[in-house]
Amino acid sequence: MSKPQSSLPCLLLIFFSAALLHSSQADVGTAAQYRPPYLPTACGGSDQGQFPPGNLFVSVGEGIWDNGAACGRQYQVRCISAPVRETCVPGNTIQVKIVDRALSSVSRPSRSDATIVLSTTAFAAIANSSATFVNIEFQQVP
Ligand SMILES: *[C@@H]1O[C@H](CO)[C@@H](O)[C@H](O)[C@H]1NC(C)=O
Repeated sequence: MSKPQSSLPCLLLIFFSAALLHSSQADVGTAAQYRPPYLPTACGGSDQGQFPPGNLFVSVGEGIWDNGAACGRQYQVRCISAPVRETCVPGNTIQVKIVDRALSSVSRPSRSDATIVLSTTAFAAIANSSATFVNIEFQQVP
């Protein structure tokens, strides 16, 4: 074992790493999916320009909706588990843009109480597309 003095830098490293991890902590929740037609009205009309390239967009539940302030915000989303084994695509994190409110979307979510509702393209990027919902880790992109 090392002398006590030499373990101090190591302890400091652990302390600062923990602080760093905490400051970038992600939340956990559930992600459902919704199919076309995508006719977002809650985020200011059906302007097609609000859809990001690659169709990686979402509508959001009331926990994220923030009275409409959530429109246009971007999130990183990762599938962590699901009721059926091996539903998550391993190691895939996607970045999605908020374009609608799940509560009022024209096309209904596959699960009504989901934290986030992914477009079919976004859902398929992180999970087996036949799943109704998956558990996710998500974090707003600053
Ligand atoms: C997706 O899930 C369905 C239903 O559980 C299953 O039949 C299918 O094999 C799965 N597909 C993949 C690629 O794992």
